[in-house]
Amino acid sequence: MPTLNDLAASRTNLGEADVDWLHALVSDWQLLADLSFADLILWAPVRDDGGWLALAQMRPTTGPTSLQDDLVGTLAGPEDQRLLNIARDERRIGRESDPDWTSGVPVRTEVIPVMRAGRVIAVIERCTNLNSARTPSRLELTYLQGADDLARMVAEGTFPFAGEAAMLARSPRVGDGMLRLGRTGRVTYASPNAQSAYRRLGLAADLIGAELAVITAGLCASDEPLDESLMVVAAGRAARAAEVDGNGSVVQLRAIPLIVGGSRTGALILVRDVTELRRRERELMTKDATIREIHHRVKNNLQTVAALLRLQARRLRAPEARAALDEAVRRVGSIAVVHETLSHGPDEVVDFDDIADRVAMMAGEVSAPEVRVIPKITGSFGLLPAAVATPLAMVLTELLQNALQHGFPAPARDAAAKDGGLLEVIAVREAERLTVTVADNGVGLPDGFDLDSTTSLGLQIVRTLVVSELGGRLRIVPRPDGGTEAVVGLPVE
Ligand SMILES: Nc1ncnc2c1ncn2[C@@H]1O[C@H](COP(=O)(O)OP(=O)(O)OP(=O)(O)O)[C@@H](O)[C@H]1O
Ligand SMILES: [Mg+2]
Repeated sequence: MPTLNDLAASRTNLGEADVDWLHALVSDWQLLADLSFADLILWAPVRDDGGWLALAQMRPTTGPTSLQDDLVGTLAGPEDQRLLNIARDERRIGRESDPDWTSGVPVRTEVIPVMRAGRVIAVIERCTNLNSARTPSRLELTYLQGADDLARMVAEGTFPFAGEAAMLARSPRVGDGMLRLGRTGRVTYASPNAQSAYRRLGLAADLIGAELAVITAGLCASDEPLDESLMVVAAGRAARAAEVDGNGSVVQLRAIPLIVGGSRTGALILVRDVTELRRRERELMTKDATIREIHHRVKNNLQTVAALLRLQARRLRAPEARAALDEAVRRVGSIAVVHETLSHGPDEVVDFDDIADRVAMMAGEVSAPEVRVIPKITGSFGLLPAAVATPLAMVLTELLQNALQHGFPAPARDAAAKDGGLLEVIAVREAERLTVTVADNGVGLPDGFDLDSTTSLGLQIVRTLVVSELGGRLRIVPRPDGGTEAVVGLPVE
């Protein structure tokens, strides 16, 4: 279906400000449809007198629709055209005298000019299914009266409220609960849902006849300072939303001041109990904080383990045993890095470029003091889920360590530094694949090296993590220009 923007740009003469105005209108006209118990169609004049084009349509949630079909993008028929022209030319709300029976049900049609900056930029057609009309209840009368006020405000160019559009997406609906305030801010009508919401806030007295701002102030949790903007909203004086927090309940209020013909006739206050919603939001927030805290502790514990191992390594005489413990320190360290990153972020997705930097640095540090080859990282890993990041950090550690240890064995290290020892990590992130290459220009793999039959721990860890845990592929081959390159290919979302 074409959007309002597309239609307005391709078929009408509406300017940018006009289209913005219409956007603000349709982002909030559910209210008008619901209060009217009627369908709404927004018509705009087509370029070069080409008739009227339907830009948007809204059905009521409070009653039956009278329009089965989608009209957006279609042109108005001759009968509608006549009415729409009247609304535009006479700049007033008009009504068809007899109901229209063409769809099988009696439909009453009204037209409301949409005024902006003194011009009629579009016309709303309001279609009421009269089949459902019966002797209206107090609720219905109040709704219809509110609808009339709103319709007049549209025709006078005072609704939608300028500069307020963004907030309205989450506004309460009429059905959530509605209060009508009189000129002085006293409640003249309260829908059953609105009454219940105020009961839950702890109101024992009657709402009708009460001054809403005063009553609402009395219900607010007493330990919090009185919220000025809440008072303005509860008085129906500003087109804004606010929340009342009292008696363990949270209720959202949204005021629609009604100003018709230049004088204030009161306000509509939409009321919605958001206690459950806010509770769930709070829960999610604490859950988030807990998860972060856990990652933080895991990291601390791992660092303690690493420190213990390091201590023990120092007391050992046998070089092999020392080396083994040093490696364990390194492995634990690279897992800790990932947990540390996770303890910062609110979600289980981490920026692996950050981790790669630190793993590379660590690999250099832990390996040996005389190391001169500094790993260089090119390309980008991007964001990765924690489940991938932890194993990948270990894999990277092992591969870097191997290059430093075996590619540039101790006596040759200084030499390597002199003629530009190269140790490079290249990350290539594609839509569904991440390829990581660790390349060195060291002495190369030993004769008869076979990845699949290697029994040493390092590459076994790498293979298990890459192939079994991450479902990826691993290749370790001689580099064309000398040295070795290890290539890890991983499927990623
Ligand atoms: N970049 C490299 N350059 C040269 N040889 C390498 C390279 N990477 C791996 N090798 C060879 O592969 C062998 C196996 O590596 P692996 O990491 O499994 O064991 P390790 O490094 O010897 O011991 P550890 O279990 O402590 O990692 C190494 O001993 C080395 O001979
Ligand atoms: Mg190794």
